[in-house]
Amino acid sequence: QPAPTTLLVHADRPGPRIAPEIYGQFVEHLGRGVYEGIWVGEDSAIPNTRGIRRDVVAALKQVKVPVIRWPGGCFADSYHWRNGIGPAAKRAQEINASWGGKPDTNAFGTHEFMDFLGQIGASPFVSVNVGSGSVQEADDWMRYMTAPADSDPGRARAANGHAAPWAVPFVGVGNETWGCGGNMTADTYAASFRHYAAFLRSYSGPRANLVAVGADTDDYAWTETMMAKAMKWRPDPSPLALVSDAPLMWGLSLHFYTFAGNDWHDKGRNVGFDRTGWAKALGRATLTDELIARHSAIMDRYDPDKKVALAVDEWGAWFASEKGASALYLESTLRDAVIAGLSLNIFNRHADRVRMANLAQMVNVIQSLVLTRGAEMVVTPTWHVFDLYKVHQGATQIPVDVGTPDYVEGASRMPQVSVSASRDAGGVLHLSIVNLHPDQPAPVTAILAGTTGRTATAETLTAGRIDTRIEFGKADPFVPVRLDDVRLADRQLSLTVPARSVTMVTVR
Ligand code: AHR
Repeated sequence: QPAPTTLLVHADRPGPRIAPEIYGQFVEHLGRGVYEGIWVGEDSAIPNTRGIRRDVVAALKQVKVPVIRWPGGCFADSYHWRNGIGPAAKRAQEINASWGGKPDTNAFGTHEFMDFLGQIGASPFVSVNVGSGSVQEADDWMRYMTAPADSDPGRARAANGHAAPWAVPFVGVGNETWGCGGNMTADTYAASFRHYAAFLRSYSGPRANLVAVGADTDDYAWTETMMAKAMKWRPDPSPLALVSDAPLMWGLSLHFYTFAGNDWHDKGRNVGFDRTGWAKALGRATLTDELIARHSAIMDRYDPDKKVALAVDEWGAWFASEKGASALYLESTLRDAVIAGLSLNIFNRHADRVRMANLAQMVNVIQSLVLTRGAEMVVTPTWHVFDLYKVHQGATQIPVDVGTPDYVEGASRMPQVSVSASRDAGGVLHLSIVNLHPDQPAPVTAILAGTTGRTATAETLTAGRIDTRIEFGKADPFVPVRLDDVRLADRQLSLTVPARSVTMVTVR
């Protein structure tokens, strides 16, 4: 008999706004992430708008992608933006030193990225080159993108086809500077970040919010150093208008990947995995909660008002690719959907501190939203979760107490059911419920304190096997279906969510 899960939903105690940027994406010049996945060129037989795939744009629009981080990743710290502007035929034919020395034609550069964002309706999060670049190169890029049209950088931009400045609300100051982005110690990078932060700004339009490189996984010492040494301007009073009380950084990042194996060198199978592979991956994804809580606790000591965001600007399920696949290309299975639902619930629950998260990576790389094969495209089970969860974007977080049994598999142990909730501007309550158990349904009862909703409906995503995958040319097995038997009376909700599923309940 499956053990019950009980929820106390505190709609009477609304929490913070869930930043839409928690549903952000990350795309890097890596494998088929940009070339083929987004950019096919104007002459391609694949339907495109100014070289950008229409099918991919339509899929991304549908899930309301709010922000995209580009051009990397490790690639960002070897990228020189000037190579990617001007007439296509004259652009530098580069090698991608970060990812296998493959050619990079630079056909997709700043203008193409901004055009792509415009077609989707998303905002840019541009990562500047700290590792092999300079403050001047980064500042020149900011000028090129944001300076008014009647300045030299603005005229250079206009000569390449875009007179009006672009809004660049998010700027990443390097990437993984503890590793591929420069092999720095936390102290060295804290000093470097301070230097970049003194110059990087938007020259028109909205403020450029700087995201400093934060920790990998559980490197709490890195977070401590960055908060202690890089969060603030010099404390001594200065006549410069530039110096202010506002933190130097808008956000501090965190990178965390889910494996099904034991570490970076043994990530576990991508397809054809067993229950151990399922449980190990979900157990690791569950750790996201503890990681955020512990990094946030350090941040709280320096920034009790939570002015600085924790930006989980790389997260996702990273398994071993199948032989012959392009770099970091992964098949997409039901396990990815459950990992996505679980991770997004954790971000929503930490919305007071987590105000940005970027799935790695949006197309054809690691935990993708969409996969392409030549002219074909499929949406992944992860895409369906982002589609179900888009109602949380910008909504008010509603706290939920969760009483649920543990799901135990070998050495892996984790709560069986994960939940987050929000109330949208129209007063509609949304409850996302993930059942991590591979074969036991979860009977759920919830007390909805402080709600006036009278009807409840639910849609659920599941599949026949834990490793059911999406396949080109076949029917999509992950399309969510309506759940029968959802009851609501006297603010008491009850339903049974299927095993291995992601469910969205709507109460209006
Ligand atoms: O997402 C793939 C790589 O993982 C990124 O380039 C890097 O930042 C991280 O190590």
